[in-house]
Formats: sequence, structure tokens, C-alpha cells
Amino acid sequence: MGPVEVAVVAIWSMLPAYVPNNVAVVLGGGRPIDGGRTWGGARLLGDGKTWRGLVAGTLAGLLLALVLGALAPTVGAALGVALPGFPLAAAVGLALGAMLGDIAGSLFKRRTGRERGAPFPVLDQLDFAAGALLLALVLAPTWTLATFTPAVLLAVVVLTPLLHVGTNVIGYWLGLKREPW
Ligand code: CTP
Ligand code: MG
Repeated sequence: MGPVEVAVVAIWSMLPAYVPNNVAVVLGGGRPIDGGRTWGGARLLGDGKTWRGLVAGTLAGLLLALVLGALAPTVGAALGVALPGFPLAAAVGLALGAMLGDIAGSLFKRRTGRERGAPFPVLDQLDFAAGALLLALVLAPTWTLATFTPAVLLAVVVLTPLLHVGTNVIGYWLGLKREPW
């Protein structure tokens, strides 16, 4: 695979992990997952992590994986790249893992004295990707290792922050997000 093919496979394979966060921004809100609980004087997770965001984001990622799986042969043929489909275990790993990685990031932000919405460069851009890859590796190890070869993984690490910053700036402009990160 050349660099363009590697980038296409990286973005395609991570789409079920990228979309949950954006859906959570649009559909989230309501009861916080931590129920208002605190730990060491700070909120456990904060008001930015809600049950509705978690459920809606995960379901959206699963649905997208289903759709992408059905489209993989057609889109792959059109682009001339072999695009992977998403077995259920892989889809759950990517979608739920992304939301859990984002939650783990907030847990860490609160423990280090950062208020809800405070920026934490690198963590904000990669926590969900790390969560997605880890849970996919646990639930669908063979698929994950075959899909995320070292080159694809490198592309994910480079492209994810760029895509994350780009979509969040757009979300901020559209008035969907409180901060542009
Ligand atoms: N969101 C949600 N539920 C989630 C994740 C996100 O409702 N599980 C929504 C919240 O409205 C949140 C917004 O998406 O404010 C943006 O998400 P994010 O940037 O991850 O949260 P922040 O508010 O910045 O909080 P944190 O500092 O904890 O990241
Ligand atoms: Mg944030």
C-alpha cells in the first residue's frame, strides 16, 4: 500500500470510533454519568460526560460500522483499496472503546485539577482513539491486528488529532460545542 491507501484505510477503519464523540456532542446532555459525585474535591468525570451521550454515541458508531461494512466492497473497488468490514466485536470495540477512552480522559483531567472543557493537548485528541484500539484489541484481536498494521497505526496517530481538531472547530463554529477543542 502507498501512503494514500494507508491513510484511506486508517480513516475508514477508525470511522466507527470517530463518529461517537461527534454524535455525543450533538445528542448528549442530561444526567451526568458520575451523578454529580466528587473524588478528592473535584468531580469524578464532570457534567460533560452524560449517559445520553455515551449511549447515543456508541449506538451511532455501531450503526455506522454496519453501514460501512455493507459498503466496503463497493467503495473499496471504486477507490482501488481493500477496505475492511467490521465484525460485531470489532464494531463494539471501536464505538464503545472510543466513548470509554474519552471518559477515561475526563477522569484523568479532573484528577489533575482541570475543569470541564479545559484543554489537555494530545490527551483530548487521542484518548478516544486509544480507547477504541484497546477495546477492539481485547474484543476482536485477530481483526484488529490484521487491520491496524504498523503503517496504518502510524497514520491513525498522525491523522486522528488533525481530524479531531478540524471537526471540533467546525462544531464550535456551528454553535454545537462550547470550546473549539
Ligand atoms: N458529551 C456527552 N456525553 C459524553 C461525551 C460528550 O454528553 N459521554 C457531550 C457534552 O455535552 C460535552 C460535549 O459532548 O460537553 C463535548 O465533549 P468533550 O469535549 O469530550 O467534553 P468537555 O465538555 O470538554 O469535558 P471534558 O473536559 O471532560 O473533556
Ligand atoms: Mg473537551
